Amino acid sequence: MHAVVVAGARPNFVKAKPVLDALESTGMRTSFVHTGQHYDEAMSGVFFADLDLRAPDHHLAAGSGSHAVQTAAVMTSFETLLGRLRPDLVVVFGDVNSTLACALVAAKAGVRAAHVEAGLRSGDRSMPEEINRIVTDRLCDDLFATSPEAVEHLLREGVPSEQVHLVGNVMVDTLLARREDALARPILADLGLRPGGYGLLTLHRPANVDDPATLTGLLGALGEIATRCPLVFPAHPRTAAQLADRLPAGIRLLGPVGYLDSIALQAGARLVLTDSGGIQEESTVLGVPCLTLRDTTERPLTVTEGTNRVVGRDPAVVIAAAREALEHPPPPRRPALWDGHAAERIAAVLARTLPVSAPPAGNSGESGPISPLTRTR
Ligand code: UD1
Repeated sequence: MHAVVVAGARPNFVKAKPVLDALESTGMRTSFVHTGQHYDEAMSGVFFADLDLRAPDHHLAAGSGSHAVQTAAVMTSFETLLGRLRPDLVVVFGDVNSTLACALVAAKAGVRAAHVEAGLRSGDRSMPEEINRIVTDRLCDDLFATSPEAVEHLLREGVPSEQVHLVGNVMVDTLLARREDALARPILADLGLRPGGYGLLTLHRPANVDDPATLTGLLGALGEIATRCPLVFPAHPRTAAQLADRLPAGIRLLGPVGYLDSIALQAGARLVLTDSGGIQEESTVLGVPCLTLRDTTERPLTVTEGTNRVVGRDPAVVIAAAREALEHPPPPRRPALWDGHAAERIAAVLARTLPVSAPPAGNSGESGPISPLTRTR
């Protein structure tokens, strides 16, 4: 069996690592594809070192662009690669443009596709990720969900139940495996931070950073919060470009940080303020209070069974919620199945359900174009 595992943007390197390891431990052959959606050392390279993630076997170098340009660039290169590799399975993660692009190519090539982190829905179609989630789930054959709500979304959308598997959260697999390494990092000392003595801020969603009025309101609220709890802000390149000289006192701007430093900064924080999906989950597992600066979340389990609160963007509401979280932090809790073994469950399902195929004669791992009739469902 040959599985092509695709990642291309920061959060998905974190998810790919345990799945690659678990697939290989079942004896499956894997090819690891980096789409190149993220390409800077700080957005990509450092994750390979931090996660001990093997170098990609194929790099598509898609780079940045508008949604259509980026998605099309990944699709064009991935279609050619898939025609050469002719795998039995393509595995995609999460909700970024690379995920959608590769799921679409696999579906049209008749290659079985698995989506890890399926069924998440924010209900907000103004988020590009929501479109990517809906379409990717529609296209994929095996849907691996992190939460019971995600399973319900898929069933309600008409997906046959045998395609849906509640397996837990592979991001948590990585977090639990790497937590001690992260806590040993010197980043807090390097920045002069004391555990529990600061808040961590991350912002990169277009809805927060591209609209000047929203950003100004948020920065006002964050400046007010920083008078009580100084904030450190490892900024995505997209955000850093919008912020030049606009940050209130008490908010310290850093460049993007790698995986281990990100976990170390979360674990040491008294409060996390974010618009990231992954950080909502990681802060829950670390037991740190999190305020999500969005109107919706596709990860409601972090609210009902974790430390997250969705507070929107109204400055007065954000300030009041921060005061509450600082004075009365929620008790740490962790959702069921977020136990470090999700990738093993995924590999077990795939190993059980994929048909065994003999390698083509003289198999070099690459062969001719894919017939649309090779779908294995
Ligand atoms: C993407 C995902 C988002 C995810 C985020 C994680 C989509 C639609 N969005 O957003 O869901 O939360 O990744 O970080 O796929 N840039 C660099 N260096 C890089 C990569 C990007 O400077 O290595 C800058 C470029 O100016 C680029 C911009 O960031 O245009 C946006 O990058 P892009 O990959 O389009 O989306 P993200 O905002 O990173």
